Amino acid sequence: MAVLQTIRNFFVPIETGESEAVVPAPPTEYEVHPLTDKHLSEVLRLNVRCFRNGENYTKHTFNYLLSEPRNLSYRVATPAGEMVGFVFVLVNEDGSAHLTTIGVAPEHRRRQIGKRLLTHVEEALVLRGVLTVVLEVRVSNTGAQSMYRDSGYTVVQRLAKYYNNGEDCFLMLKALPDNRS
Ligand SMILES: CC(C)(COP(=O)(O)OP(=O)(O)OC[C@H]1O[C@@H](n2cnc3c(N)ncnc32)[C@H](O)[C@@H]1OP(=O)(O)O)[C@@H](O)C(=O)NCCC(=O)NCCS
Repeated sequence: MAVLQTIRNFFVPIETGESEAVVPAPPTEYEVHPLTDKHLSEVLRLNVRCFRNGENYTKHTFNYLLSEPRNLSYRVATPAGEMVGFVFVLVNEDGSAHLTTIGVAPEHRRRQIGKRLLTHVEEALVLRGVLTVVLEVRVSNTGAQSMYRDSGYTVVQRLAKYYNNGEDCFLMLKALPDNRS
C-alpha cells in the first residue's frame, strides 16, 4: 500500500480553467514512441487538457516519474510530431507494475490510442518479467473503466475516499503472461 500512498500524493489541485469545445481532429496516423524528459513541457500541457477535474500531476511528479530508469513512459505522436497521448508506469521493486497515468488529447479520443498505449506498455513489461499491472480509476470515470475492462483489467477492490475531493477509486488489476514459461 506504500505505492498507493505515493501515487495518492501525486495529485495536486490545479486550476485548469474553462472546459474547451472539442472538435475531432482530422484522421491521421499514430505512432508510439518513448517519452523522455525532453517531452516534459509537452506532456504537462497535454496532461492539463486530459484531466480537467481540478486534481492533477505537477511538473515535480512528472520529473520524478521520468527520473527512475526502471519506470516506463510512452507517448503517441502524429506524423507532424504532436503528442496526442501518454502513459506512465511505475515498476516496483517486487516486479509488479503500477499504471500511474494515461491520457489522450480530447480531439483524438475513441481511436484506440488509449488501448494501443496499454498494449505497448504491457508488451514492454512482459519483456521485463513483470507479471501484474494495477491501477486506480475514479468510480465516476466510466469511460476509462470501459477501456481498462476492454483491455483485460478487472476491479479487485474499491478504496473509499482515495482522491482529495473524497471520491472513491476502483483498484483494477491485470495478470500478464509469464515470459519464462
Ligand atoms: C480514458 C482515455 C485515456 C481513453 O482514451 P481513448 O484513446 O479515447 O480510448 P480508446 O479509443 O482506446 O478506447 C478503447 C475502448 O474503451 C472504451 N472507451 C474509451 N473511452 C470511452 C468513453 N468515454 N465512454 C465509453 N467507453 C469508452 C470503448 O469500449 C472503446 O472502444 P470503442 O471506441 O471501439 O467503443 C481518454 O478518454 C482520456 O484521456 N480521458 C481523460 C484522462 C483519463 O481519464 N485517464 C484515465 C485515468 S484512470
